[in-house]
Amino acid sequence: MPDRWVLVIAASYWQIPLIETVRRLGFKALAIDRNPDAPGAKIADKFAPVDITDGESTINLAKMMKVSGVVSDQTDLSVPTLAKVTSALGLPGPSPEVAFNTTNKARMRELAKKAGLKNPRFRVFSSVDNAKNAIDEDHEDAPGGVGLPCVVKPTDSQASRGVQKIEYRKDLVPAVEEAFQFSREGRILVEEYIKGTEVTVEGCRYAGVTHLLGVSAKRHTPPPHIIAMNLDFPAPFPVETHEKIHETYNKLVDALGIVAGSVHGELIVSSDGIYLVEMANRGGGSGTSSHVVPAISGVDLLEANVWYSVGDERPVQRTMDRASVLRFMVFPPGKVREILGLEKAQQIPGVVRTDLYIKPGDTLVPPVMDTQRHGYIITVSEALEEAQKVADEVEKAISIVYE
Ligand SMILES: Nc1ncnc2c1ncn2[C@@H]1O[C@H](COP(=O)(O)OP(=O)(O)OP(=O)(O)O)[C@@H](O)[C@H]1O
Ligand SMILES: [Mg+2]
Repeated sequence: MPDRWVLVIAASYWQIPLIETVRRLGFKALAIDRNPDAPGAKIADKFAPVDITDGESTINLAKMMKVSGVVSDQTDLSVPTLAKVTSALGLPGPSPEVAFNTTNKARMRELAKKAGLKNPRFRVFSSVDNAKNAIDEDHEDAPGGVGLPCVVKPTDSQASRGVQKIEYRKDLVPAVEEAFQFSREGRILVEEYIKGTEVTVEGCRYAGVTHLLGVSAKRHTPPPHIIAMNLDFPAPFPVETHEKIHETYNKLVDALGIVAGSVHGELIVSSDGIYLVEMANRGGGSGTSSHVVPAISGVDLLEANVWYSVGDERPVQRTMDRASVLRFMVFPPGKVREILGLEKAQQIPGVVRTDLYIKPGDTLVPPVMDTQRHGYIITVSEALEEAQKVADEVEKAISIVYE
């Protein structure tokens, strides 16, 4: 049989499991990334140094290689390109409209509103000048203004780039200016800050069935920059709250028009209901789709995605229901001389995977975006307390020697 190529859009660290899955299922992996030294480049069967936001070049490459499918995971950046390529080649994938619905936070707000789901009071702006009155200015989507505290964010970025919680009026304009720097389409959101517990919802939709496979409770760094530090699966809520989350999740999948693929969403469970933060038609980042979801549910999201991409959409079935912790490591600032204990930590029973993004010689700074965290721990167990204990053990086992 001739080789069947699957194009993997992005070859960064967290695309490696996807490239490996493509190969394990018997396909050839063609990976692209603007960075020729991307770690996935070495393990793909073929690599091309193409920017993952360059739709035209990616379409040309996909046509030239006559690819059988196109996939990407764990990042929003590749989703519009994925949609362009699959549409151009007539392959399974999100339509450009669904790609927009699930990567643009202003569009998500509109669609959630239409579906009668809860949004914070929100405003969308395309200039600093218009945004500066957002706190008090009355608007259909923000009666009486967005108020304080509020959150400022780009409409189309990720990894908490340019996302800030604002407590005082004086901080609004600088935060708006920062958010504009990270907005590709030149728009930002200023939103009411919703108090509550943030949850992530992890699942997929295949063969016409929407599955919710994991719900986590998220903890963050203190403001202004809001960086996720720990996700507990399952979120410790009563059954009724889980049912409400499930219902909101299903409605959002429909409202955003998601027809197939992995789903990753963020919601805030507040005393007056469940609010949308964002929802994506791709797997959750930092190993959530590749490691956490399979560990807790038995569903291999990456495999399902690859089969779907080549026109072989298969139903999925949960086979277990376990607990997991995804915790991020952040060490004190300084220049790293040596890292101790990582290999030992990787052997601790219950560790699915743990790794550091840093190396000797690096200078550590307090993170202001997700990509500046220093490492991660993924653990699994029957009970959440046990998974948390294993994560604590890993943290204790790893240490940094500074210069
Ligand atoms: N309106 C809001 N009310 C309360 N908290 C919010 C609100 N909007 C965002 N946040 C918090 O800020 C975090 C980052 O915001 P958002 O998810 O919109 O940005 P992002 O760039 O996609 O970040 P990430 O990639 O880390 O999810 C959210 O996960 C949530 O904790
Ligand atoms: Mg987010």
